[in-house]
Amino acid sequence: MTATTSATAATATDGDQAPTTTCDDTLDFQPALPVDRDWIKKLILEHSSNPCNGKGLVVAPMVDQSDYPFRLLCRRYGANVSFTPMMNAGLLVRQQSYKEKFLPRQQHANDRPLIAQLAGHDPLILEQAAKLLLPYVDGIDLNCGCPQGIAKRGFYGAFLLEDEQVLLKCVKHLVKTISKPVTVKVRVLPEGDDASLRLYHKLANCGIHLLTIHGRTRHQLHVQTGKADWNIIQRTVQELGHRIPIFANGNIGSYDDVQRCLDETGVDGVMSSEALLEYPALFDATAMRMGRIQMAKEYLLLAKQYPPQIGHQGSGIKCLKAHIHRFLHPDLESAFNSTDHILRQRVAQAADWQVLWDTVEFIEQKQKQEEHKVEEEELSWYMRHRITVTDAHGNLMTALELKALSDTGAKLAPKYLEDHCGDDEQDPADMGHSLFTAGGGDDDGDY
Ligand SMILES: Cc1cc2nc3c(=O)[nH]c(=O)nc-3n(C[C@H](O)[C@H](O)[C@H](O)COP(=O)(O)O)c2cc1C
Repeated sequence: MTATTSATAATATDGDQAPTTTCDDTLDFQPALPVDRDWIKKLILEHSSNPCNGKGLVVAPMVDQSDYPFRLLCRRYGANVSFTPMMNAGLLVRQQSYKEKFLPRQQHANDRPLIAQLAGHDPLILEQAAKLLLPYVDGIDLNCGCPQGIAKRGFYGAFLLEDEQVLLKCVKHLVKTISKPVTVKVRVLPEGDDASLRLYHKLANCGIHLLTIHGRTRHQLHVQTGKADWNIIQRTVQELGHRIPIFANGNIGSYDDVQRCLDETGVDGVMSSEALLEYPALFDATAMRMGRIQMAKEYLLLAKQYPPQIGHQGSGIKCLKAHIHRFLHPDLESAFNSTDHILRQRVAQAADWQVLWDTVEFIEQKQKQEEHKVEEEELSWYMRHRITVTDAHGNLMTALELKALSDTGAKLAPKYLEDHCGDDEQDPADMGHSLFTAGGGDDDGDY
């Protein structure tokens, strides 16, 4: 695989844009691990069967969806860096069952580099949680992207970005006390690019080892997801790329997008979430399309071997059902006819692995009867908030909204756009998996 990078974007100091803040890169404290600009590249080259010139092809942190068996499947098809699902630092420190779910028994040689993601706002709790994870991972990430109600109430994720004092205190404390790389995943600030860049400089000045930028603000969620902005990512690479590696997140729906993103922004890696959930072979450079049935079966077999619970970082059957729904979204959603409706119910109500396996085999038979062509498969789950259609009254809405209206006959209530409630000590994976409702709820990918 080749991954080209445009010289202009990659040469951070050559940018004709003046730095947004003065670059004070002297730390006023002793970091536990000084920044080695190429640390992630070195790990990729050392551990991955798909080195991609040291460029990261990254499985995003995903609550209840970047479980170990899913990460293995993505790595089988080209991914070379993974993030764990976000873990609530307070729960990890205090709750035995939470520890059991998330702490692996061992560091898996076939799952490296792996970065564990934490959510929280208390420096000491974050430190304690990070130290529990350290033996099993290559780095610790702080979630500064989750825009959900649960993050607002728990004061973490994207809301931490808006309280600079607390944010920088947490980051500095982690950098000071954690002996492995500390990374931060951010969104763009609602105030705009310049304010965002100023904050990213401050994060770099705290000694972080890598920054992942999801090029959307926290207001871009659900039906308002829209396009991610790569310009801010490219500007950040120009201003900070010579000091720390930067990953881009957003707008990745195909391998061409991966290449384009690397070329246009000059980043060190490209992170994907929703498209990868639907098509785990997204990072595979070979032109051959893998069938969604094949993806579903391979995942189920891995999940049988490494159940996504106790140490494998998912919530059991709930996690499996969500994966199957995403792999087979077109089969489960198409045409709204009675057979598909029954299939959706079957997945939604599945109590064990075997029901899911049988359903996948049933769909496989159905595809054969319909002379389904794998090479014609396209992403459908990823596109649900990105394709707009016009309803009978000329209103512009996403395909998902239109489907909701036709399913229920009711207008979409404003509630649809509201956050679900939750508290600081709630496992985000326990927020209702309303995958089979039109709105999708908190598990709709808006983290
Ligand atoms: C099911 C799901 C769970 C997610 N959980 C997390 C999470 O735990 N931590 C996080 O930082 N982002 C989380 N996200 C957001 C993704 O990491 C990513 O930033 C976002 O989906 C945009 O990337 P995409 O355009 O490739 O989907 C989640 C997304 C989805 C779809």
